[in-house]
Amino acid sequence: MAGKKTPGAPEPTRRDFLYIATGAMGAVGAAGAAWPLVNQMAPDASTRALASIEVDVSAIEPGQAITVKWRGKPVFIRNRTEQEIEEAKAVAEADLKDPVARNDNLAGTDPATDVNRSAGEGKENWIVMIGSCTHLGCVPVGLAGDFGGWFCPCHGSHYDTAGRIRKGPAPENLLIPPFEFVSDDTIKIG
Ligand code: FES
Repeated sequence: MAGKKTPGAPEPTRRDFLYIATGAMGAVGAAGAAWPLVNQMAPDASTRALASIEVDVSAIEPGQAITVKWRGKPVFIRNRTEQEIEEAKAVAEADLKDPVARNDNLAGTDPATDVNRSAGEGKENWIVMIGSCTHLGCVPVGLAGDFGGWFCPCHGSHYDTAGRIRKGPAPENLLIPPFEFVSDDTIKIG
């Protein structure tokens, strides 16, 4: 302890005391600078909780949809009917305004076929998309528009039953976030 005389030890001079005090402050300063860096690198609990969510979809009947919130954005989960799937499959790729799947679970160049827009083979009835119009970000309305999919009322963009832009100013298909079925009835998003 600086400044206290240990029995038998030589009395520290004023010069020694200043040196010890300066060294101690240096150590505190270094620790103080390191902590915020460490603290910033570790995500807090709320960030970790939002990184991915699990959604039970067992109660969503064919023809129904729900909207959940993920990372502050609405996400549409729709259980499509056979008819909706057939309508989407019947569309020629040449008729698509945006030919790219826009599916974060696939390569960036994969085509916007119906299966590539859905949850995949065997689960083609499920479609999961970020509910943000690719024009200027309004939230489209489901089961609406000229193609029976989604309609954005802000400037009139029409999406089909696979969430592909078919008419209006939006440039791209609705984005499909990273997701997977972790059980028969549970979708993990993110
Ligand atoms: S924001 Fe959807 S059409 Fe403009």
